[in-house]
Amino acid sequence: MATNKTWSGTDIDDLYENNGPYSFVYPPVTPSKHHAVLYELPVTLTSPPKPHQSLQTHHWEENYVKLPYSPQNVFPIENNETGEKILKSRWEIIENSLLQPIKSSRELEAAIKCYNTRLPSFAALHYFFEEVLEEEEGDAFFKTLLPGIVRLALQLPEILPGNLPLLQKQKSSSISLSQLQIASLLANGFLCTFPWRKDVSNTYPGLNFARLFSAHFRPKRVNCVVEKIKAICHYFRKVITKAPVGTVTFERKYLQKNQFPRWDKIDNNLGNTKVHICSKETIENGLGLLQVDFANKFVGGGVLGYGCVQEEIRFIICPELIVSRLFTEELNSSEALLIIGAERYSNYSGYGDTFTWDGDYQDQTPYDYYGRRKVSILAIDAIKFNKASEQFSTSHMLRELNKAYVGFHSNLAGKLAPVATGNWGCGAFRGDPSLKSLIQLMACSAARRHMVYYTFGDTDLEKTLYNLYVFIGNHNVTISELWRILCRFVVSNSNQNNFIPYIQQAYFDLHNQPTITQFFSSNSTHNSKN
Ligand code: AR6
Repeated sequence: MATNKTWSGTDIDDLYENNGPYSFVYPPVTPSKHHAVLYELPVTLTSPPKPHQSLQTHHWEENYVKLPYSPQNVFPIENNETGEKILKSRWEIIENSLLQPIKSSRELEAAIKCYNTRLPSFAALHYFFEEVLEEEEGDAFFKTLLPGIVRLALQLPEILPGNLPLLQKQKSSSISLSQLQIASLLANGFLCTFPWRKDVSNTYPGLNFARLFSAHFRPKRVNCVVEKIKAICHYFRKVITKAPVGTVTFERKYLQKNQFPRWDKIDNNLGNTKVHICSKETIENGLGLLQVDFANKFVGGGVLGYGCVQEEIRFIICPELIVSRLFTEELNSSEALLIIGAERYSNYSGYGDTFTWDGDYQDQTPYDYYGRRKVSILAIDAIKFNKASEQFSTSHMLRELNKAYVGFHSNLAGKLAPVATGNWGCGAFRGDPSLKSLIQLMACSAARRHMVYYTFGDTDLEKTLYNLYVFIGNHNVTISELWRILCRFVVSNSNQNNFIPYIQQAYFDLHNQPTITQFFSSNSTHNSKN
């Protein structure tokens, strides 16, 4: 065994079946009442796709995103002479405010507050321009980049004349947008033009960037806000310099209760699921795989605030993901969000408080037939545990299994991409990696996918999980057996530190085989395959 090997289990090329990373199937883009395609097909990739014109406009309706340019978007202003309130088109106010010369972050804040009065002070934005950037960099932003962002935002009526539906709870539905349409929506988010909505503001995360700009000073954390603003500016610089030509699909996945497997009944042999465990790479580098986003039920989590862990970093280096916050209702326990085609624009280093924007990233991912980069990102939100012990409960384990399954499952015929995952729910949400890795293995097996597990630099975890999978494989443990063993662990009230030995011992008990100590003394070669 090579000593510097950073992975165990199945070789990644074996998971790719020696066809390279991009031979897996992707869901098609077919306009229907469940799939809103906001541009004209087919996509040529020579210029941005033409926008789709809807016959009827639903720009201010309940089940749609309220677009800031809708004629119904009005704003009460006071008539100077009579003191009476009159309603004025808010889009006109937006245009007038943003087309004035804006030379500083204070003027930008004032311009935005002409049409969006509910916002707090933009303390972090002022800090960025006044304390972090060199004067020339700030000047370049206000002279060139900001006017570009304003143009992109004000072109929204031409770039996105169609109706943008909401991806609502308990409905499987999809939206496909061109990258240019997303850029224009993000420019509107940056300029906080989206109207406040009483009906949806509690259940949709929202796209206005005010929260990022106003993030109050916490000395350790302001650094990541600054780095995020750098990454966002870089994104706008790129899409303004050269309009992107591709497309992105957002699919809300929902399964009803009776569509989930009976975990105590299915007899898939878990050993048939191939597993590659890697302690070096990270999920975003898992080419062609179904890359898991360790999500918040409000997708993007704290991306437009202080948050700076796996999900927020992914959204910041691939800002097209952020637009999902505009139309994706809070995920419930049987739902997931799949995003296909989001491009990566930035490099980064560090994590959390040490996160740093690290310059440009040239995304070389090939496009599929529909103009999407062949990259799929799956947002699944784990349960947040206050105490680690809470996770060892049957209902919580079932919830996590079903959550992983709704994300991994697909009705597509053909070769499904393996799942690229890792310590899902085990950082900010305090889960246990051994339990979560078994849950994800079971969901992969039920969903006919192999698994790549990135341990995020943890070589001990790589070894532990490898040994666990070897045990499972050698004994042909099935999903239902493992489920029963997990449930036994819960009722046994055993110490969590003994979780893995317990699993193995319980397996032997179930089969009336020799005890674990006897097993290891007579089979010591099993665990040292790699
Ligand atoms: N690749 C592989 N593993 C990673 C990566 C990566 N790029 N980044 C982190 N890890 P966490 P959660 C590992 O805390 O517990 C956000 O605010 C690393 O070991 O992001 O599910 C969301 O919006 C890390 O400790 O996920 C939610 O609100 C572990 O994955 C909340 O955090 C968990 O990463 C979700 O928390």
